[in-house]
Amino acid sequence: MKTLQVLLVVTLFVVMAASPAFAVTEQVKGKCMTCHKEITAGLYYQWRDSEHALNNVTCYDCHGAKRSEVDAFMHEGAYIATMVTPKDCGACHQKESDEFQPSHHAKAGQILDSNDAYLAHVIGGNPVAIVGCESCHGGKVEIDNSSPNKLAAGSWPNSGIGRLNPDGSVGACNACHVRHSFDRAQVRQPETCGKCHLGPDHPQKEIYEESKHGIQYYTNIDKMNLDSDRWIVGQDYFVAPTCATCHLSATKDQPITHEAGARLSWNLRAPVSKLQDNWETKRDNMQNVCKSCHSDVFFQGHYKQLDGLTHLYNEKFAKPSKEIMGILRKNGSLPNSAAFSNNVEWIYWELWHHEGRRARHGAAMMGPDYAWWNGIYEVGQHFYFKFIPEVQKLGDEEANAFIDDLLTNNPMHNWMNKNTADLKADIESGELQDLYEGFYQPVLGR
Ligand code: HEC
Ligand code: HEC
Ligand code: HEC
Ligand code: HEC
Ligand code: HEC
Ligand code: HEC
Ligand code: HEC
Ligand code: HEC
Repeated sequence: MKTLQVLLVVTLFVVMAASPAFAVTEQVKGKCMTCHKEITAGLYYQWRDSEHALNNVTCYDCHGAKRSEVDAFMHEGAYIATMVTPKDCGACHQKESDEFQPSHHAKAGQILDSNDAYLAHVIGGNPVAIVGCESCHGGKVEIDNSSPNKLAAGSWPNSGIGRLNPDGSVGACNACHVRHSFDRAQVRQPETCGKCHLGPDHPQKEIYEESKHGIQYYTNIDKMNLDSDRWIVGQDYFVAPTCATCHLSATKDQPITHEAGARLSWNLRAPVSKLQDNWETKRDNMQNVCKSCHSDVFFQGHYKQLDGLTHLYNEKFAKPSKEIMGILRKNGSLPNSAAFSNNVEWIYWELWHHEGRRARHGAAMMGPDYAWWNGIYEVGQHFYFKFIPEVQKLGDEEANAFIDDLLTNNPMHNWMNKNTADLKADIESGELQDLYEGFYQPVLGR
């Protein structure tokens, strides 16, 4: 009889532990709030004023966990987990989670193979990879069973957008939706994206601020209707678009998307820009946003200018410098065996990864200073007066012959052999401009 009782108790315990809904009473769930109101008051009030609290979504609804989850721990009568991953949010917001999972954002944590990661670990060291790269991209969160919340301190806190979570899911919804308010108004503002999209290699935030769109936004924030439940451009607000407007938010014809690539026709961050698969549809999606405020001829003119700049960068600088690097690598002409242990690789890297991107991003988002002074101006100066001279010093005959041919026979590059007066005359007559005539279309030669 006694053994049966013990068995019953044990079975009950196992069942309770495996199924949180059964084990955790409303009273236990309610205590999360009453106690945390004292323990972590700020966090409690952020939650209390949120849409979640209004809709009765409580601490336990997000933090509750099954005992079997790798990061679950017993806390005040319930198994909970500190991390709340896209899998957890997706239990109630499935559409958002499904759209987010296949996006580049969700994959942003898979960077260890990249040259960027090589630099972080070789030039820098692991501490900076954690607080730098991984704080934007997301790191792999490790389990440490000796930690009170089971999360290894070196790997968490982390809210990088492509975080690799212990439950197997990828990403962090709170990369954009700041907890515990999870407030719509906040995520519609450019500041949300500006945590990551700024700086020398992708200055979208700075470009936005200098654009007419940014100027209008900061002048009229109070007219942006940021708190509105519905936020359709051209209907619920109209003074200016934000990052969210163009890339994610709804138009009268398109729902909100959590796939940030859904409206991009180019890849403007690659060493040489390429059109995306299905670029026409993606371009239509973006133009559908512009349409809410501009006429067709106006935004199509903008795209023509963007295509022109992108081909200018590709054809004049990106392809030749990439080809030169290919020759040097093939012939083993780069000094030392470790990557980046010589000037040439650094100059080439910044050419496409810094100034080359800035130019393209400036052209895409109406930032003239980034297109030229921070962009092609620096690409050109560094190409002619840093990259080429540094390559020539290596004495690779094939590379030097390629450079000689480029500077002598390519009409975009043979200006050094001419005199200023003739070049100015060619500008006046339009002859120099004609060299680029074919560039103002997405696909060259069409
Ligand atoms: C009796 C008070 C009390 C109750 C009830 C309580 N907590 Fe806590 N909780 C704490 C304290 C104390 C900490 C540790 C705070 C610290 O480290 O500064 C904590 C920490 C946490 C953490 C963070 C753990 C970490 O360090 O990463 C989470 C998440 C959490 N509680 C959620 C909950 C949830 C969900 C409930 C309801 C099931 C709950 N708490 C109930 C007192 C309480
Ligand atoms: C809508 C889901 C959601 C709700 C509701 C929620 N949280 Fe959280 N909470 C999160 C997310 C997301 C994180 C970030 C964890 C991560 O890195 O994944 C977090 C982190 C935390 C942390 C650790 C981070 C810190 O700042 O100390 C504590 C403690 C915490 N929550 C307590 C609570 C308490 C207490 C409540 C109820 C008053 C609550 N949470 C309600 C989603 C939620
Ligand atoms: C238990 C279900 C549940 C979970 C889990 C949950 N939410 Fe929610 N969420 C809701 C409900 C209900 C609403 C209010 C109704 C609506 O807007 O859909 C809401 C609203 C929102 C809103 C709109 C807020 C506003 O200002 O209108 C955002 C953003 C959001 N949730 C994000 C998240 C994120 C991110 C997570 C995970 C960290 C999460 N939610 C987890 C149920 C949940
Ligand atoms: C301030 C946030 C931030 C930091 C810090 C950061 N990145 Fe990034 N990274 C981004 C953003 C944003 C993009 C996307 C740029 C774009 O599309 O214009 C990006 C792009 C990349 C890409 C290109 C991905 C692709 O699809 O082409 C790689 C690889 C990368 N980063 C690796 C790293 C590594 C490694 C580090 C650390 C050495 C690092 N990043 C530091 C925000 C950051
Ligand atoms: C790149 C930033 C970003 C990330 C990451 C992100 N969101 Fe959002 N989310 C937004 C923006 C911007 C909006 C607001 C769109 C609007 O109202 O115009 C939004 C809106 C929402 C809404 C309200 C939807 C509606 O129809 O009103 C929910 C719910 C939501 N997100 C959940 C999530 C969940 C769950 C995740 C993680 C799987 C997530 N978000 C990740 C930017 C993001
Ligand atoms: C926590 C950092 C972070 C935040 C916040 C963030 N992003 Fe990103 N974003 C990235 C990184 C990293 C990438 C590059 C991912 C990759 O390709 O590996 C990226 C890529 C993108 C891309 C290119 C997608 C593609 O398919 O090529 C767009 C567009 C974008 N982000 C828009 C936004 C917008 C709009 C917001 C704000 C609503 C935002 N992002 C917020 C880090 C962030
Ligand atoms: C007026 C609309 C508009 C606004 C506002 C806007 N963008 Fe863009 N963005 C674009 C267009 C157009 C492109 C290029 C689209 C294409 O490739 O067809 C682009 C491209 C991008 C890319 C892709 C770069 C790459 O490497 O391919 C990222 C990332 C991005 N924007 C982020 C942002 C962020 C962050 C903000 C706010 C600070 C922002 N955008 C504001 C229209 C906008
Ligand atoms: C919410 C309305 C709105 C949306 C959506 C919008 N714009 Fe604009 N745009 C404006 C306003 C307002 C101006 C400033 C007009 C002026 O200069 O008098 C502007 C200016 C411009 C300019 C001129 C920049 C300059 O320096 O003179 C271009 C180009 C442009 N927009 C392109 C686009 C493109 C492309 C899209 C879609 C990807 C877009 N806009 C989406 C409102 C919008």
